[in-house]
Amino acid sequence: MCGIVGYTGRKQAAPILLDSLSRLEYRGYDSAGLAVRNGTALAEVVKATGKLHHLADKTDQGRALAGCCGIGHTRWATHGDPSLVNAHPHVSGNCSGSGSGAVESDVVGVHNGIIENYTELKEKLLRRGYTFYSETDTEVAVKLVDYYYKKYKIGPVDAITRTMVRIRGSYALALMFKDFPDEIFAARKDSPLIIGTDEEESFLASDVPAILKYTRQVYYIDNHQVARVSPGKVVFYDLNGDEVPMPLTEITWDAEAAEKGGYEHFMLKEIHEEPAAVRDTLNSMVKDGKIDLSQTGLTEDVIRSIEQIDIAACGSAWHVGMAAQYVIEDLAEIPVRVELASEFRYRKLPLSRNTLVIVISQSGETADSLAALRVAKERGAVTLAIVNVIGSTIAREADHVLYTLAGPEIAVATTKAYSAQLIAADVLAVHLAAVRGTVSPEREAGLLEELAAIPDKISRILEEKDRLQWFSSKMANTHDIFFIGRGLDYAISLEGSLKMKEISYIHSEAYAAGELKHGTISLIENNTLVIGVLTQKELYEKTVSNMMECKSRGAFLAGITTNGNFSVEDSVNFTVYIPKTDEHFMASLAIVPLQLLAYYTSVNRGLDVDKPRNLAKSVTVE
Ligand code: F6R
Repeated sequence: MCGIVGYTGRKQAAPILLDSLSRLEYRGYDSAGLAVRNGTALAEVVKATGKLHHLADKTDQGRALAGCCGIGHTRWATHGDPSLVNAHPHVSGNCSGSGSGAVESDVVGVHNGIIENYTELKEKLLRRGYTFYSETDTEVAVKLVDYYYKKYKIGPVDAITRTMVRIRGSYALALMFKDFPDEIFAARKDSPLIIGTDEEESFLASDVPAILKYTRQVYYIDNHQVARVSPGKVVFYDLNGDEVPMPLTEITWDAEAAEKGGYEHFMLKEIHEEPAAVRDTLNSMVKDGKIDLSQTGLTEDVIRSIEQIDIAACGSAWHVGMAAQYVIEDLAEIPVRVELASEFRYRKLPLSRNTLVIVISQSGETADSLAALRVAKERGAVTLAIVNVIGSTIAREADHVLYTLAGPEIAVATTKAYSAQLIAADVLAVHLAAVRGTVSPEREAGLLEELAAIPDKISRILEEKDRLQWFSSKMANTHDIFFIGRGLDYAISLEGSLKMKEISYIHSEAYAAGELKHGTISLIENNTLVIGVLTQKELYEKTVSNMMECKSRGAFLAGITTNGNFSVEDSVNFTVYIPKTDEHFMASLAIVPLQLLAYYTSVNRGLDVDKPRNLAKSVTVE
């Protein structure tokens, strides 16, 4: 999704903006641009299509753009193709071409989000004599601000609030006005935006890692607010133009956490950070051998009143929900329904005060998950968010929040955040069970002991990564992969398959092993790779039988199973052993080899592991 950055202070803005944009690359983009002000001179706008280094080359790494106030943008095309003319920043002036150079313009802006009624607004502006050079909704927004600014001769804040009440959709906007040389004006609805400050400078960004190197003092601008950002100072306004006080938050993440730290890719680094992410998350929920979820405000009374749990999430976070449902149902005996957030939001599911809706999201900004949360609240359910980014919209809007402590995740394909979500969901399941009396205190203690041992077991799996690297080199040219399993193993297969396809571009599917025979098995040919996840004792033999059915039709088999528990070597071509743990928690271990396999396959195919094509880290549009 688009990334926004801004800087105003005493230093040259362009190099800082380029550096911050490079830290948002993981969000996914297809063009980039900068606008920089040098005192009262006109804003200089430079854009480039493709990777950020084209923009850096065009501006001599930012040195060619003089000025201490500026905005920058990486664009993930929604309205209009990924061309120079559609790249941001956009200007209010009547320019031809792409709107680059020293642009005679009263307002210059960048935007993340989608303005749904832009056609109607564009027609209005056309009638008022405005012309348009791009196909973007952003140019419409910038020109609408300009229109109100001039028509009513009001200041930037009022011009922006008037615009905000006219536009529908989602937006994070950062705007510079010709008459306010060292200030940036920002506005937000449903798209992420943070503002960092230091003594003499201020920063804007779509996400924390972009500015972590410069400051840890951050404001989260609220929905329907405008911020006036000057060096070292930020003032917030509501839609009436009245000042509103906003709290300053201290970010505790390490600046190094957003660096590669010697690894070739963020993804590999983040897989290696899983033991720490899991341990930190566990330690925040289990104190002195007892589960303590007081941070969430979820009381024992609420827990006892739950009759139904609905989990809504997207992508890998949805896979965490798929895994969690088996654990919660089995331990706490509460019925669980897992829905894709994009479907949940439009379903007419009956919810009540006795339904707990759990929304799982690393970023806390995913548009569909946020919408699902809002629907759940409207329908009267109790909501709990499992979120990694402190202060994100989902975290702020949910009734209760459980933070995962994975730290910043930069690679588009989630790994450590997934593992942290999984462990959080497992501890929650144990807690629900203990409070409702479906597990005894002894069993609870035993389960917690198992959970506490998981970080070290993940480290042991990581020590054996060379074998997976070797295997991935053998299978790098495979065309199709099927991941199969039953029960919790099916949930693990879903995540293993997504990891593989999103970064290796190899077609892969996850199937509940028993379902193959109902159609999909016709796709099995000579050497089709079938990876069976075999961690559940009761279901193991059944999945192995399904694997053998594939083998009879030419499939090449790989199996992931626990050390010493089951013997699959006679049946499959390649076996990965993982340490044992309580079967409820096997996903935390079985996923690690699958993540590594996907990683090495992507590397072997020479692909952009951390930034796979067409994908965005934080999907803030519907
Ligand atoms: C896949 C991946 C995505 C995210 C999904 C939800 O590797 O990362 O499928 O899990 O976009 O994102 P969050 O958790 O930020 O809501």
